[in-house]
Amino acid sequence: MRRYTELLAALALSTGMALHAQTNEMVIQTKKLGAEIQPTMYGLFFEDINYAADGGLYAELVKNRSFEFPQRLMGWKTYGKVTLQDDGPFERNPHYVRLDNPGHAHKHTGLDNEGFFGIGVKQGEEYRFSVWARLPHGGTGEKIRVELVDTKSMGEHQAFASQTLTIDSKDWKKYQVILKAGVTNPKATLRIFLASQGTVDLEHISLFPVDTWKGHENGLRKDLAQALADIHPGVFRFPGGCIVEGTDLETRYDWKKSVGPVENRPLNENRWQYTFTHRFYPDYYQSYGLGFYEYFLLSEEMGAAPLPILNCGLACQYQNNEEKAHVAVCDLDSYIQDALDLIEFANGDVNTTWGKVRADMGHPAPFNLKYLGIGNEQWGKEYPERLEPFIKALRKAHPEIMIVGSSGPNSEGKEFDYLWPEMKRLKADLVDEHFYRPESWFLSQGARYDNYDRKGPKVFAGEYACHGKGKKWNHFHAALLEAAFMTGLERNADIVHMATYAPLFAHVEGWQWRPDMIWFDNLNSVRTVSYYVQQLYAQNKGTNVLPLTMNKKPVTGAEGQNGLFASAVYDKDKNELIVKVANTSDKTQPVSLTFEGLKKQDVLSEGRCITLSSLDQDKDNTLEQPFAITPQETPVTINGHALTTELGPNTFAVYKFTKK
Ligand code: AHR
Repeated sequence: MRRYTELLAALALSTGMALHAQTNEMVIQTKKLGAEIQPTMYGLFFEDINYAADGGLYAELVKNRSFEFPQRLMGWKTYGKVTLQDDGPFERNPHYVRLDNPGHAHKHTGLDNEGFFGIGVKQGEEYRFSVWARLPHGGTGEKIRVELVDTKSMGEHQAFASQTLTIDSKDWKKYQVILKAGVTNPKATLRIFLASQGTVDLEHISLFPVDTWKGHENGLRKDLAQALADIHPGVFRFPGGCIVEGTDLETRYDWKKSVGPVENRPLNENRWQYTFTHRFYPDYYQSYGLGFYEYFLLSEEMGAAPLPILNCGLACQYQNNEEKAHVAVCDLDSYIQDALDLIEFANGDVNTTWGKVRADMGHPAPFNLKYLGIGNEQWGKEYPERLEPFIKALRKAHPEIMIVGSSGPNSEGKEFDYLWPEMKRLKADLVDEHFYRPESWFLSQGARYDNYDRKGPKVFAGEYACHGKGKKWNHFHAALLEAAFMTGLERNADIVHMATYAPLFAHVEGWQWRPDMIWFDNLNSVRTVSYYVQQLYAQNKGTNVLPLTMNKKPVTGAEGQNGLFASAVYDKDKNELIVKVANTSDKTQPVSLTFEGLKKQDVLSEGRCITLSSLDQDKDNTLEQPFAITPQETPVTINGHALTTELGPNTFAVYKFTKK
């Protein structure tokens, strides 16, 4: 025995890890029903970064469809006689193209669109092409040919889908036709050319898959929206992130521009186009096609509470340090009005101005908005002095709305320490905390919320992800540490009411920031291990916390706890006892779970253990190997009310039992 202990000690020394002799006996008090787990746990953070909206979730396949990019023909290649006009039918998007007779029957006038890193189409699928068009010189009919073209391989299938449209009016009208893809092509080109001898004007040239999420026109890419819904999110934050602030106030996200007919939603610059010069994407703009209506609708369809974040009158403080870059406190009225109007857009009666806009868009019933965030990553006195008038006006007009304030960009430090008391003073309902932090931080924060003031605002862990030191990309170990840290969110359900990993999406050819939760290309998507961690929490969140201790202490990865983190919940509705344990050590750990307080006759049945683990800590799922690391479920047999088991190294496990 002595030799064995010595051996263990020697092993611990050689691995640099202190092993402790106890057998990790965890005790769960089933009779002490703790805090309610909020329905808003766990959620999603959406920002149009990494081509998450245009070129991503928003299923539009045409880039620069309204010719409003500053370089009006960016994304387009023209041939023959194409001219740009600027007196189109949509006030906020006045540009369009005129296609004229090229002067010879064998020549063509037309234009090609390159899409977002190409246009991805799947064999047998249908695509809805639409265009606003007119005959500027009158006449009875001119034809345009619409094609999906393989411009890369130049093979015999060069044009693999085509249709002809007859433009028959001198007045602007919307035309549409369905193209069926004969082949799968991740990088097709959309080609439109004049197929008769006259002149036509074309505006808002669009191509969508017919099969969008829930079949909506102007809809969302189905696989990506499905991935979101599969999490069962409780809350859905939108539209960011820094995009809320803009590089300057001019380019902030302005929700009013994102509603109403899509043809008339103006273009906005996307700040992520140039935020990182080493990842510069000159063609990254926001069409606002995925706007606030589409966002509220998706929230409703997923059963998530919407949480919009609005600009507080400050442009991005990283990029603007002069007071004049911001809105003066005395000039905030229109910003405050925007917040009030957004509530009216979401919840107002159809006879109100903004309620009517919502109804006209197809949703007369309210969207049941309950939360509103004001400001993103703000700091300094500039923030509370602007937030205060927002809060006053919102409380007066809408006492039912819960207000989310910010604690700045950092998880601790000067700004954080200044803003939290300010948020208490202003009586914000929740405070948004952000932490993109390395492994050491995640390992040390298991007890972060244990001593938070229970009387102040609640916590919204609004942006977080483990950014491995020297490994700022998705990999298993980072996700494992997120899972470990989240036991602390769960254990503190009385104070932590919302949590959203960030960012959500990234196009493999267009990312600016990583790690991210879901990666995609033009045809496929992949759920990372971080995704599965979020999903395991959201799908096993239970209704109430149960006290769980090891040696009478919460299991927070603290000294002497062998790298273990754990939390337990009860689900009243399903009568389930659920225990989450993360073993962050590289050793198999003996673990026992004892459920105290059950009656003798209570039977724990249908025992299951769902694990996430990987032999390679640097690995994650990829488009090539999308299912390399996924949750694995195995049955578990419990002896009465106690389970004795082993948990493999670097493993996250969810144990579940049904109480009968
Ligand atoms: O999630 C990416 C960015 O990180 C967000 O836009 C910002 O709020 C944070 O700095």
